[in-house]
Amino acid sequence: MRLTPVDLPKPPVSASTPAVAALPQPRRPPIGPSLSDSPARAPLAVPDDTNALHEGVWPDSAGRDADGALLLGGVSAVALQERFGTPLYVIDEDEVRAHAQRTVAAFREAATAHGTEVRVYYAGKAFLCTEVVRWVIDADMNLDVCSGGELEVALAAGTDPARIGFHGNNKSVAELERAVEVGVGTVIIDSPTEIERLAAIADRAGAVQKVLVRVNSGVHAETHEFLATAHEDQKFGFAMDAAPAAVARIRELPGLRFEGLHCHIGSQIFGVAGFAESASRLIDLHARLLEGGPIPLLNLGGGFGIAYTPTDDPTPIEDLARGIVEAVARECEVRGIPIPALAFEPGRAIVGQAGVTLYEVGTVKPVALGEGRERLYVSVDGGMSDNARHALYGADYCARLASRTSDAAPALARVVGKHCESGDIVVDREYLPGDVAPGDLVAVPATGAYCFSLASNYNYLPRPAVVAVRGGSARVIVRRQTIADLLRADVGAEGNA
Ligand code: LLP
Repeated sequence: MRLTPVDLPKPPVSASTPAVAALPQPRRPPIGPSLSDSPARAPLAVPDDTNALHEGVWPDSAGRDADGALLLGGVSAVALQERFGTPLYVIDEDEVRAHAQRTVAAFREAATAHGTEVRVYYAGKAFLCTEVVRWVIDADMNLDVCSGGELEVALAAGTDPARIGFHGNNKSVAELERAVEVGVGTVIIDSPTEIERLAAIADRAGAVQKVLVRVNSGVHAETHEFLATAHEDQKFGFAMDAAPAAVARIRELPGLRFEGLHCHIGSQIFGVAGFAESASRLIDLHARLLEGGPIPLLNLGGGFGIAYTPTDDPTPIEDLARGIVEAVARECEVRGIPIPALAFEPGRAIVGQAGVTLYEVGTVKPVALGEGRERLYVSVDGGMSDNARHALYGADYCARLASRTSDAAPALARVVGKHCESGDIVVDREYLPGDVAPGDLVAVPATGAYCFSLASNYNYLPRPAVVAVRGGSARVIVRRQTIADLLRADVGAEGNA
């Protein structure tokens, strides 16, 4: 039986919603987890083929083997489960490398066309481990970190500290001391407190630290509220009108060297418009600040969106790069100033599409929705601890059977985890073959960004391993946590006192 598509009211707005809007923005009501102003979602179309692997959502290497099992980097999902267990984060090494190279090339080409240079930083918060750092450095990327821990991962991978940008709205004295000691390339200053704190640390170390000043351009990337970071009323950076005083103060301090402005308008953004508007405002400020001395750089942050489902249609990175750099060039020309060197910080766009999470199905339960409709609750062996994004942002994902293909009629399904929480949803709505059953493997694509990095041990679930696949072979790059790992920190557990 083919079930009728349903579109139940859904509280949070999709984090894969495209769009960016320029100011002025209407004042929006405070947004909490209930997100009452969420737009209604389009009904989910019944797919022609519940086995299809959509280009742009899955890694390019994704396919099926002769038995119908999902292939990633030439390795079958069944073999991956046998060797490494589930849940499992699978990351396609070539896919990450390709996105890194393509992104660097896109921005270089756009910058060169306007006679300037560009540095592309990988935003490590999207997914950080030493292997991934090495892949992106191979592609000539730099690295953006936002905590002492991320900095140590970058250093453990052998990153040249000069290639590191250090972010964060509340970097501790110890974190800043470490950054200065190892010679981090730039520190992105986020508050007046930090100016004085960092200047004192640089003085004590006898160093001159290059810094950027993070500002809020006021442009609101209209994605999920929690992802938009350029509002006036939020914790990051300086308001535009507070920035000149901050820059003036930095210029007075011998331990600091002002390199330029930084702005990040939000995440999972599909179009050029918001970046262009933000760039225009920043160039305006940049031009005024030039009166106080040269400013070599302008960092426009990251936020480039990816496809989580077949209906997502992100702008190709080449078009984004060209559009943004053109906007900067135009604004500079209007003001008669030279185009500064540019910097960007993509995270999701580098790793998102490369990741696929494999789960084993434990239970399948039809739940009646009324009017003859039903939904299959497909419970898997992970959940919000390995992918918090639906619970946090209402993010949309899609899913496929990974251990086999099936000709069974599509059934509306919700892929849920094993946590004690009804919001423990991995894939809110998807048509899976109606014969999906315990023991099947289910794969969720586009989990390369902000899944491993947002993972928790909720309900004492150990974090899954990360396995890199490439050319028909697989290797663990982050080992699976064990219950013993978790118990080791519990002082009262036997043997730990
Ligand atoms: N630069 C700065 C200063 C940032 O704050 C971020 C992300 C990025 C770059 C990279 O943004 P991307 O290119 O990855 O969009 N956990 C959320 C995303 C939070 C983004 C935080 N900042 C999610 O799962 O969607």
